[in-house]
Amino acid sequence: MKILAIETSCDETAIALIDATGTILKPKFKILGDALHSQVALHEQYGGVFPMMAKREHQKNIIPLLLHVLKKAKILTKGKYIINKSLLAKIKKILAREPELLVEFEKHLLALAKPNIDAIVVTEGPGLEPTLWVGINFALALGKLWDIPVYGVNHMEGHFLSPLVEGSHITYPALSLLISGGHTELVLSPKPLVYKILGKTRDDAVGEAFDKVARILGLPYPGGPAISRLADQARKELRIKNQELSFTLPRPMLHSKDLDFSFSGLKTAVLYTVQKIENITNENKKSLAKEFEDAVTEVLVYKTAKAIEVHKPKTLILAGGVSANKNIRKEIQKLAKKQKVKLLLPKQKLSTDNALMIGVAGYLNIKSKKAKTPKKANGNLSL
Ligand code: KG4
Ligand code: ZN
Repeated sequence: MKILAIETSCDETAIALIDATGTILKPKFKILGDALHSQVALHEQYGGVFPMMAKREHQKNIIPLLLHVLKKAKILTKGKYIINKSLLAKIKKILAREPELLVEFEKHLLALAKPNIDAIVVTEGPGLEPTLWVGINFALALGKLWDIPVYGVNHMEGHFLSPLVEGSHITYPALSLLISGGHTELVLSPKPLVYKILGKTRDDAVGEAFDKVARILGLPYPGGPAISRLADQARKELRIKNQELSFTLPRPMLHSKDLDFSFSGLKTAVLYTVQKIENITNENKKSLAKEFEDAVTEVLVYKTAKAIEVHKPKTLILAGGVSANKNIRKEIQKLAKKQKVKLLLPKQKLSTDNALMIGVAGYLNIKSKKAKTPKKANGNLSL
């Protein structure tokens, strides 16, 4: 079946069209079209994402992305879509709170022939509610126009299932370390589409900690890649100079009995360290970035190891934006090898937000008859 997937949960507008076949355990996906617009350059100057600004950007970019994808998939046919008045009134009502999107919708989409698509799936949460609404309302309006069913997808389920995009199969039970800008969770999936959160952060998410520490060090947004670059440099230089590192940061909750995390104290420890330095040099920043990344990695790997020992999963999945981090990837790879568990590690492009993973999660939900029409944006939707 051909599925159009839409993702607008944060600062990436993404659309994908996939052809999905196969069973829930052995699904197969062919990518017919895939487009993404990142708002990073816009938000960089403000050091973070402003939801209302992000919402406007999604409204501006979502239709050009859709047209690009339909063209790439060769199913964009300009035709005369004769829309009756009552249908148009319904679409106007759906898009009443997205005025900029409605203008573009009327201009570009009413003149298209109905494409050969079986379902539309869209992220309904978690994320920023104003931006989630853009995707949901757009999906509902398209569904109305083309008379195609629309289903909601949990963004974190998308991250969990993201390795399937590349043709991997998950052997259950599966354990996932989901690390992103808003989440840090160890999730056990005993069987497809069933999830149990074993542990999560009690305060900041890992990505959030990376972003905040980057700000403390005067590095650009998003902080993850910036810190990671500095930390890598520090590792290389330390190897050459054979020097000891000058900073020590805590490993929060390393020995707590549960599988929870906490990163806010680590961030504060970086802040206090920086405040004690009179003139912070680039060398100081590099050392701090490395020590911070090491501390985060150590805690993540230790807790994942503990979860593997207790729950004995057949597959380990590392996913979410922070899983693009080289050091974390390397250490999790070592852990999987040591514990002899199959590791699924989506390539970096699939680690950060994208619509392909939403399409994959949508397909499995449709296949299992769990898929439902989204009713509203749910910023705190949990697995
Ligand atoms: O999954 P994602 O794209 O969006 C959310 O759903 O939150 O994750 C974004 C987060 C940001 O906090 C960003 O700093 C972090 O992922 N990130 C990284 C790296 N690349 C992105 N963190 C550490 N190292 C990276 N290489
Ligand atoms: Zn995400």
